[in-house]
Amino acid sequence: MLAVEDIVERCRGALGEHTPVLAVRDVLTELVADPASLDRAVGAVELGGITALHNDADLTILRVAWTPGMVLNPHEHRMWAVIAMYGGQEDNAFFRRTPGGLEPAGGREVGAREVLVLGDDVIHSVANSRPEFAVALHVYGGDFFTGARSEWTFDTHDERPRDLANTQRLFEAANARWRATASSARR
Ligand SMILES: [Fe+2]
Repeated sequence: MLAVEDIVERCRGALGEHTPVLAVRDVLTELVADPASLDRAVGAVELGGITALHNDADLTILRVAWTPGMVLNPHEHRMWAVIAMYGGQEDNAFFRRTPGGLEPAGGREVGAREVLVLGDDVIHSVANSRPEFAVALHVYGGDFFTGARSEWTFDTHDERPRDLANTQRLFEAANARWRATASSARR
C-alpha cells in the first residue's frame, strides 16, 4: 500500500536524475493515475488547506486542497514546481512582470490526473471554480517555506513580500464560506 514515505522517497530519487523537474513530473504522473491510493496515503480532504508531507532545503512536498470558490492572489515560487491534481480542477492564470507591473500571460485549467510543470520564474494565481475540493500534490525544488518571494494584491497587483499568514487567512475565509453554504444546503 502506498505511504507518504514512498511518495517522498520516489521524489527524492527523481532529484538525482539528469533533469529533476521532469523526473518528478514522471513520478507524479504515475501517482495521480491512482487517486484512491493517494487519498489513503495522505488522508481524505475535509477542509481546504496546505499539508506539508516533506520539507527540506532541496525538496518540499505539499498536499494542497483548494476550497470550492477559493482564489489565491498572484505569487511566485522562485524554484521549479510540479502540480499534480488528483481531485477536482485548479484554474491557473499566469502573469509576466513588466515595468508597469503585472501583465496577464494566459491560463491553464488542470484537471484530475493531470500534471503541470512550472518554471522558476512563473507568476500565477490559482482558483477553484468548481463545487468540489481541488486536490493536488505540489512538489517544489527547494524549501517552500523560507526565502524571499513576492506576491501581488488581487486587484491592483501591487507587489509585496510573500505572506503565508495571508494565504492561511484566505483558506480560513474560504472554508468558512464553504461550511456556511454546505450547512444551508442541508437545511
Ligand atoms: Fe503557486
